[in-house]
Amino acid sequence: MTSRTPPLARRMSDIAPFHVMALLARAHELEAAGRDVVHMEIGEPDFASPEPVVEAGLRAISSGRTRYTAAVGIPELREAIAAHYDRHFGVAVDPGRVVVTPGASGALLLALAATVNPGEEVLLTDPGYPCNRHFVRFVEGSPVSLPVDAASHYQLNAQSVADRWGERTRAVMLASPSNPTGTTLGAGEIAGILDTVRRHDGYLILDEIYQGLVYDAAPSSALSIGDDVIVINSFSKYFYMTGWRLGWLVVPPHLSEAMERLAQNLFLSPPAPSQYAALAALDPDCDALLAARRDAFVERRDFLIPALRELGFKIPVTPGGAFYVYADCSGLTGDSFAFALDLLEKQAVAITPGVDFGVHRAEHHVRFAYTTTVERLALGVERIGAYLGTVPRRG
Ligand SMILES: Cc1ncc(COP(=O)(O)O)c(C=O)c1O
Repeated sequence: MTSRTPPLARRMSDIAPFHVMALLARAHELEAAGRDVVHMEIGEPDFASPEPVVEAGLRAISSGRTRYTAAVGIPELREAIAAHYDRHFGVAVDPGRVVVTPGASGALLLALAATVNPGEEVLLTDPGYPCNRHFVRFVEGSPVSLPVDAASHYQLNAQSVADRWGERTRAVMLASPSNPTGTTLGAGEIAGILDTVRRHDGYLILDEIYQGLVYDAAPSSALSIGDDVIVINSFSKYFYMTGWRLGWLVVPPHLSEAMERLAQNLFLSPPAPSQYAALAALDPDCDALLAARRDAFVERRDFLIPALRELGFKIPVTPGGAFYVYADCSGLTGDSFAFALDLLEKQAVAITPGVDFGVHRAEHHVRFAYTTTVERLALGVERIGAYLGTVPRRG
């Protein structure tokens, strides 16, 4: 008897892999063969979890805090997150609106699952964080990626949202600062978008995962604009806890109960030791360390951007946050994916091609992540300069 392989679900044909993973695999092969690769492709901070966080996590494990918790998180952490908004942004948040999740990834999934019906549209940016369109697809919604460019700081605005809002549109999903562009939305811009969304009885889902990592303005939260914004956040980036898998969302009061039901069913509970560790991350004792690391990112950004411009990359908008530079490489190549592969082979510098973030002018863009030291960035820049010296320039 011949056995046939059962088919995958249809949705799987819409779920793309991260192209950078192929590049990363090649980078690891080169490293195994003894090459020294400069990593500027990784969207993960190079800093370790803060010491008090590690200690609190270890204490939690050794004292047996290794069981399920409440689906929406331990009350102490929900209260600490609410207090964090008060302390840093002067916004009063009821802890009952805070839902602790397995990473911002879990939070994004909950937000969409609770608000989007099959067939309904969610407006996104192209380029944007690639998982978002897959999350929308996963809940059987329809992702609508709107091309954005330097003129709009790679963000949507009230006008572009109003222009595209249709009968079936349910939500708009944005990030500030954004991945891959590092650009931010100002309070006025968020208020304008929120007005449009309210007029259509829709939802604004705003991802603030890079909130603490802003360099040209004081950190802020959309929660100070309205309690009807669904705000996403995480311990991954500003708190250096990527592997602890912990994030949260703050939801409008009328969604709290639905979120709890969903979180119970999808996750049962966020990871218990991570939640106790996260309490230490939010403690004022960690403030100075987190601020110092933020300052290190500013220094890296301020080194990297002029150096890349000097090499011929166009960076029309200086990114105000996160740890990314989304650079236009059209003057250097017409195929950013081939460029990234060739750069890795010839000079052992890893960067992310635009195709990982959408289709709009993707072949003309690459993302640099400054998740490594200024010394390593300088070495990367030197090698890219050497590479460009050996390939014919366009135009
Ligand atoms: C914009 C954005 N949102 C969400 C995530 C997911 O983060 P996590 O699930 O680690 O909290 C990332 C990770 O890179 C991101 O860049």
